[in-house]
Amino acid sequence: MKLKLAVLPGDGIGPEIVDQALKVVKAVAEKFNHELEYKFGLTGATAIDQVGEPYPEETHQLCMQSDAVLFGAIGDPKFDNNPKAKVRPEQGLLAMRKKLGLYANIRPVETFESLLHKSPLRRELVEGANFVAIRELTGGIYFGEKGRKDDGNTAFDTCTYTRAEVERILKLGYEFAMKRNKKLTVVDKANVLESSRLWREVAQEMAPNYPDVTTEYMFVDNAAMQIIQWPKNFDVMVTENMFGDILTDEASVITGSLGLLPSASIGIHTSVFEPIHGSYPQAAGKNIANPVATILSAAMMFEYAFGLMEEGALIREAVAASMAAGVVTVDIAEGKAHSTSEVGDWIAAYVAAK
Ligand code: IPM
Ligand code: MN
Repeated sequence: MKLKLAVLPGDGIGPEIVDQALKVVKAVAEKFNHELEYKFGLTGATAIDQVGEPYPEETHQLCMQSDAVLFGAIGDPKFDNNPKAKVRPEQGLLAMRKKLGLYANIRPVETFESLLHKSPLRRELVEGANFVAIRELTGGIYFGEKGRKDDGNTAFDTCTYTRAEVERILKLGYEFAMKRNKKLTVVDKANVLESSRLWREVAQEMAPNYPDVTTEYMFVDNAAMQIIQWPKNFDVMVTENMFGDILTDEASVITGSLGLLPSASIGIHTSVFEPIHGSYPQAAGKNIANPVATILSAAMMFEYAFGLMEEGALIREAVAASMAAGVVTVDIAEGKAHSTSEVGDWIAAYVAAK
C-alpha cells in the first residue's frame, strides 16, 4: 500500500520523538512492503519563528494532500509567560484541528504490566484498567466566542455546542462502545451548564438506538474522582473539549508515565496522530524524552488511517518488548536509563527482526 504522510515535528522534544516514530514507521513499511512517502511541515513556535504563523497554509495543504499526519508537540515557554503575545504556538494546533475538521480525539488509556509499580495508584486499582476517552475537539470553550470588555478588565470565553456537533461525537462514542464492553459514560456538568444539558438531552435521545450499550451519565467533578478511584469501571468515556483535555491528562498518569499515551484525532479530512503529552521544553535536545507515546501514535495511524491492523499490532508488541527488556527512558527506568534514540532504535530493530 502507498502511505503518504505529513510529518509535523513541532517544538521542544517534538523533533526527537517524531524521529523515533519515523524509524519505526520505516521499519514497518519495509517489513510489510508498503511504499512510504513523507514530507515535513512547519508548525508551532518553530513555524512562528520561521514564517510568522503557527499553522502556515503550506503546512495545511501538505496535510490535506496526505493520507495521515504524524505530529510531535507544540508549545514554547517564551509564549507561555507572555499573555500579550499576538500569535501563540497553540493557535497552530487549534487551527489545524479546525481546518482538518478533527472533531474527535481518541485517547486509549491502557496500563503496561511491566510498569504497574510506577503508577501513583495501588496495583490492584490500576491493573487491567483499559478504557477509551473520546474528547470532542473542535467545539466548546476552545472555539466559542471570546474577548474582553470594560476596557479590558472583563474577559470571557464561551462554551458553545450545536446539536449536530454533539450527535456526531456521541455516535462515535456508541460505535466504540459497541465494539468494546458496551458501556458509554457521558461526562458533563449538566447540573450547571446549559451546553451540558444539550449533551445530556441528545444522549438520552440516542441511547435507545443502542440497546446493547449501557449509557451512564457522570458529572465531570465526579469523573475526575472516579478515574483515580475506580479506573476499571470505565469502558468508553465521551466528553466535551476542555473536560476531555483535563481528564485525559489525569488518566494518562495512572499508567505510570505521561510519556506513554498516544492519540488519534479523526474527523472530516486527514487524521492526525500525536502523543497526548506536550512539548516538554526542559528536555528538548537532551535525548532523554520518552518516545513511546509517539511510537504508539504511529501504531494508531496504521490502524485508523490505513486499516493495517497487523502493522499496528507489531508496533505495540515491540513497545511492550522494549519495556519488558528494560530498554526505557529515564522517566520509567529502574536501573540504567536509555536515551530517546536508543529506545527508538531498539523498537525499530525489533520490528525489522520479527
Ligand atoms: C492537548 C494540548 C492542547 C489542548 C494545547 C497545547 C492547546 O494540551 O492536545 O491536549 O489543550 O488541546
Ligand atoms: Mn492537553
